[in-house]
Amino acid sequence: MRIYLDNAATTSIDPTVLAEMVLVMQEHYGNPSSIHADGRKVRTLVEQARKKVASLLNVSPAEIFFTSGGTEADNMAIRRGVLDYGITHAISSPLEHHAVLHTLEKLQDDGHIKLSLLDVDDKGHIDVEQLEDLLKNNDRTFVSLMHANNEVGTLTDIALISEICRKYDAIFHSDTVQTMGHFVHDFSALNVAFATGAAHKFHGPKGVGFLYVNHQYKINPLIYGGAQERNMRGGTENVYGIVGLAKALELAYAHMDEHRKHIQGLKDYMRHELLQSIPGISINGEQDPDHSLYTVLNVSFPEMEMADMLLFNLDIAGISASGGSACSSGSNIGSHVLHAMGIDKNRPSVRFSFSRSNTKEEIDVVVSKLKELCLEKV
Ligand SMILES: Cc1ncc(COP(=O)(O)O)c(C=O)c1O
Repeated sequence: MRIYLDNAATTSIDPTVLAEMVLVMQEHYGNPSSIHADGRKVRTLVEQARKKVASLLNVSPAEIFFTSGGTEADNMAIRRGVLDYGITHAISSPLEHHAVLHTLEKLQDDGHIKLSLLDVDDKGHIDVEQLEDLLKNNDRTFVSLMHANNEVGTLTDIALISEICRKYDAIFHSDTVQTMGHFVHDFSALNVAFATGAAHKFHGPKGVGFLYVNHQYKINPLIYGGAQERNMRGGTENVYGIVGLAKALELAYAHMDEHRKHIQGLKDYMRHELLQSIPGISINGEQDPDHSLYTVLNVSFPEMEMADMLLFNLDIAGISASGGSACSSGSNIGSHVLHAMGIDKNRPSVRFSFSRSNTKEEIDVVVSKLKELCLEKV
């Protein structure tokens, strides 16, 4: 049996979610745009899913647009938010996911915006005073700051950021992909224009996500085509994906407290055990449970020969973990996040990310394997 500790990359699909999706695939194959009964039935399923998602996030169904995932939703928010509002200045952080950073960089390369990246500290906190200064001294600005960092788990206070953005009339987008289904979001209570979600991060299917667009903002589509998603996203809907997304989010909300307690317990236990048993280890990112994503534990190990073999050796031992979002080696050389935080790149860093399915026994196996790998190679 393998041990899967890469839940920030993706999660397993919940069997109840899968069962609902299979039923839709088998029985409700009409096109939701068709006006006959088969189409209308499927249209109802899509709209029920939209209502469910909207009600969990305390927004209106008209503010939810289904997409192919987090990347498309981030692209749509950023490109359309910037271009449709004639924005010439954007603020973000070097710790954002590439779905955000590369989209902003492309807008800058094409001459649409000047991009300011905030300073960050060694725990992954952004400089909020610098944000205010930049907002004060620039024209209407687009601000994109994620809720939780996907590599180190540090949380940004998006309620505070949204208030600062309100003060300076800035348009605020938050990549909430890592916290969706893990924290309660109430987007009506925030001054956030755009927020994003991806079903596969909360035990739903891959290839489906959504963009929340606050009703005060009117943007054009990113993808042109048919009239789907109220003319905002052309293309026949991923119906079973959308149904699965809504079910997965419903289950995540229904059991959130219980899962959070379990997962935070695993994270705390693993951190404690690692610090106890391997000298010279350090933990990356904020660790205060109120300011940190409970599903993620990022660890720097002592310098060792063949550091980039660490993840490979874990894999051989049946343990799946990750070196960062898009980094496949065991070293942190490829991680733009750890680099921006100034983490020593000569030491291998590994992101362990947990789900409700993980157990304390699995953590014991992983810690003991790490101990063996580190102590034999220091
Ligand atoms: C913070 C963050 N944003 C965006 C994405 C992209 O989501 P998707 O894989 O659904 O396109 C991810 C996924 O790794 C993520 O962690």
